[in-house]
Amino acid sequence: MSQAKITVVGAGNVGATVAHIAASKGLGDVVLLDIVEGLPQGKALDMAQAKGVYAAAGNLTGTTDWDKTAGSDIVIITSGLPRKPGMSRDDLLAKNAGIVKTVTEQIVRTSPNSFIIVVCNPLDVMTQVAATVSGFDKNRVMGMAGALDSARFSCFIAEDLGVDIGDIQGVLMGGHGDSMVPLPRFTSVAGIPLPELMARDRIDVHVERARKGGIEIVNLMGTSAYYAPAAGAIKMAEAILNDSKSIMSCCAYCDSEYGVGGAFVGVPVMLGENGVEKVIRLDLNKKESAELAASISHVKELVSVVETMI
Ligand code: NAI
Ligand code: 2OP
Repeated sequence: MSQAKITVVGAGNVGATVAHIAASKGLGDVVLLDIVEGLPQGKALDMAQAKGVYAAAGNLTGTTDWDKTAGSDIVIITSGLPRKPGMSRDDLLAKNAGIVKTVTEQIVRTSPNSFIIVVCNPLDVMTQVAATVSGFDKNRVMGMAGALDSARFSCFIAEDLGVDIGDIQGVLMGGHGDSMVPLPRFTSVAGIPLPELMARDRIDVHVERARKGGIEIVNLMGTSAYYAPAAGAIKMAEAILNDSKSIMSCCAYCDSEYGVGGAFVGVPVMLGENGVEKVIRLDLNKKESAELAASISHVKELVSVVETMI
């Protein structure tokens, strides 16, 4: 791709952080869009001035005008309510479905050839909303959660083992919620399977903490995380823009894969210039398959609710 154009919808905590990382890496021209007049303009101006400090390529635009996003290669949707203490991601369903629907209609109008990366919660369901409303090919619509959840899992393991986090390859599947399925058997430390290096009871602690990783942060600061989520969205955008064929977990459309039967759910995929180029099939054991089936069934339940709303 020539100079890429990346639109970030929502100039809140996640969106502004995504825009800032994209700008600081010089990933392309970045457009930050919000409905609150002044907010995206102010944040984009601040980020543009930061470029005067670290000098990276690409323009930055803050706007409330969808026409300025026209012809984007990638649109990252972060416009949605975050949860507060006591809320589950699922509590955000109705409100965020309406926002994602409206936003997706604008994406279809202004950037019909873009890839869409959804970040809003409940993630798997909002990805389905973007796919249904856009009618885009399924490889062009995906959701960010696996990059974050596996990074959280990796972080806890690295801290426990006292090793470089860069050596950990955390693998995780399923919906972005309490039923997500961290996979210790496929997780490695510099190529060594995790169970070779860590006792089962310690692994279980980290699996549980990864599942609750979002609410741990909500309870600490009263709103949801944004640095690691933004880094996850950028990792996906980079894989597409650089055609790097990177393998990572992301929310992608699966049909026969893992017996999903037509839904968006977290699976290991290969990301490249065509978006989701391949779903990687892991040979899951009985327990892992059962956990994944439960997670898929929860996602599908929510999808059937949202289908009545869009
Ligand atoms: P935030 O409240 O800081 O930002 C949301 C922004 O979206 C606000 O500035 C708001 O004005 C804007 N917005 C609302 N409706 C809009 C519309 N129709 N068009 C354009 N902009 C609109 O929220 P935050 O913390 O940035 O979270 C955003 C979403 O991402 C939430 O749904 C949150 O749950 C989700 N999230 C998902 C994660 C994941 O792993 N998938 C991780 C972290 C957050
Ligand atoms: C997270 O996992 C809230 O989904 C968001 O941090």
